[in-house]
Amino acid sequence: MIRDVLRMGDPRLLQPSEPVARFGTRELETLLQDMRDTMAAHNGAGLAAPQIGVPLRVVIFGVEFNPRYPDAEPVPYTELVNPMLTPVGDEQEDGWEGCLSVPGLRGVVPRHTRLRYVGFDPEGNRIERDANGFHARVVQHECDHLDGILYPMRMTDMRRFGYTQVLFPDAAGEED
Ligand code: NI
Repeated sequence: MIRDVLRMGDPRLLQPSEPVARFGTRELETLLQDMRDTMAAHNGAGLAAPQIGVPLRVVIFGVEFNPRYPDAEPVPYTELVNPMLTPVGDEQEDGWEGCLSVPGLRGVVPRHTRLRYVGFDPEGNRIERDANGFHARVVQHECDHLDGILYPMRMTDMRRFGYTQVLFPDAAGEED
């Protein structure tokens, strides 16, 4: 079921989320189905459970070709529960981000270039991956939602924050 996405200003987006205690449950599967439906409906690159008002440490992400990110490299579709992120090295890089909870806007955010993430799939099987570039950026953005952090809170240069249609007038088909 497509759920409403909370928008910046809603205090629920600023709350830390709780770990999932039990895997393989009907409740968790229903949550993930709603997250898949909601992300697909908005052409999102990722979605975190608190964005639909569920304060649990669950994120989904993945990019094949995404009209919101036409130049982005592909990211494997992943459902990640109780994630833990560890930066690899000190390197950071700037990149443009958007968020379904901050519709119509884009901003440049510094992120760790490389990281290792571990967590579990919805059945409780362990996931462990190294990621870099856009993949690493998406994971950091989504997992920030689990700690109540929205990307504008990570920005260091507010001059590179603005409306998508103004910044990128040639990007057709943007819905937010
Ligand atoms: Ni977001």
